[in-house]
Amino acid sequence: MKKETEKSPRSLDQALRPSDWKDYVGQTGIKENLRILLTAAKGRNHQPEHVLLYGPPGLGKTTLAHLMAREIGASLRSTSGPAIERVGDLASILTNLSPGDVLFIDEIHRLNRTIEEVLYPAMESGVLDIVIGKGPSARTVQLELPPFTLIAATTRISMLSAPLRSRFSGGTFRLNYYDEAEIMEILARSAKILHIMTDGESVREIARRSRATPRTANYLLKRARDFAEVNEEKLDLKTVKKALALLEIDEGGLNQTDRDILAVIVEKFKGGPVGLKTVAASLSEEEETIEEVHEPYLMQLGLLERTPRGRAVTSKGYAHIGAETSREQKRLI
Ligand SMILES: Nc1ncnc2c1ncn2[C@@H]1O[C@H](COP(=O)(O)OP(=O)(O)O)[C@@H](O)[C@H]1O
Ligand SMILES: [Mg+2]
Repeated sequence: MKKETEKSPRSLDQALRPSDWKDYVGQTGIKENLRILLTAAKGRNHQPEHVLLYGPPGLGKTTLAHLMAREIGASLRSTSGPAIERVGDLASILTNLSPGDVLFIDEIHRLNRTIEEVLYPAMESGVLDIVIGKGPSARTVQLELPPFTLIAATTRISMLSAPLRSRFSGGTFRLNYYDEAEIMEILARSAKILHIMTDGESVREIARRSRATPRTANYLLKRARDFAEVNEEKLDLKTVKKALALLEIDEGGLNQTDRDILAVIVEKFKGGPVGLKTVAASLSEEEETIEEVHEPYLMQLGLLERTPRGRAVTSKGYAHIGAETSREQKRLI
């Protein structure tokens, strides 16, 4: 079994990850639902039911799982779909849980169906069915598991089978993109933790271009700080703009790949509709990355739409790349 490590690329996430509900900005509806679920379970002295969190990367799913475990005073055992390669991997995780633990499975859409089927009885009745032997002599042994709460996260809810989805009896919650004020609040806290001196305008500019995503906002803040330090400049609006331009993040917060997706659909496929596979192949990008990372944001901004026949660039999308292209041309002149 591959072990999940939380090393360098994630250390930024770790330093800035809220460990208290009061620092977890926004998502008020979800927070309220979870508060009720957890409080009711505590009051009845019951294990909280299983919860599924979904939404694009960087919106705070993992953070919520940690906060929930903390709230009920449980330890969080963390793994992920790709790390569970065999039925035996899952069996060993489940049998090693202590009573009351929270099991966090990230990227649960990557679990294969055979493993999923082992999870059903575990979630529903707290038992593990193990098949011993093969063929006619095979028999099933049932193991009683300690009570646990599964919190699962996914960026691709559509890839989850209906039977799996239906077993999250505590609820299924979709995380939303954040508004500018919320991102600004997150950035202000991050700047404080990282001892970054900046001003309101600069924070607003980073927020505006952060894809409405806390992880991206924190990442841009760090990059802007690096840029200011290396160039011995103050981290003000001018510097932020230069740093973002160097990262090829445009006024709308789109990065190069976002723009390439729009451009390829417009230039090669007359604006669409065109299938995701074709778009991915034309760009030599992973289909998964486009669907998980780029598409949701382009759709959120109304630049791209999903039709039954594929993806299509909207008139707003045309205007966006048109505007960016002419700006680019002006720069070159
Ligand atoms: N609601 C929030 N309030 C403050 N910071 C947040 C919030 N959501 C996410 N973050 C920040 O963004 C980072 C990424 O969040 P994470 O929970 O890992 O996202 P996901 O699991 O959905 O990809 C966290 O480490 C944290 O710094
Ligand atoms: Mg995560």
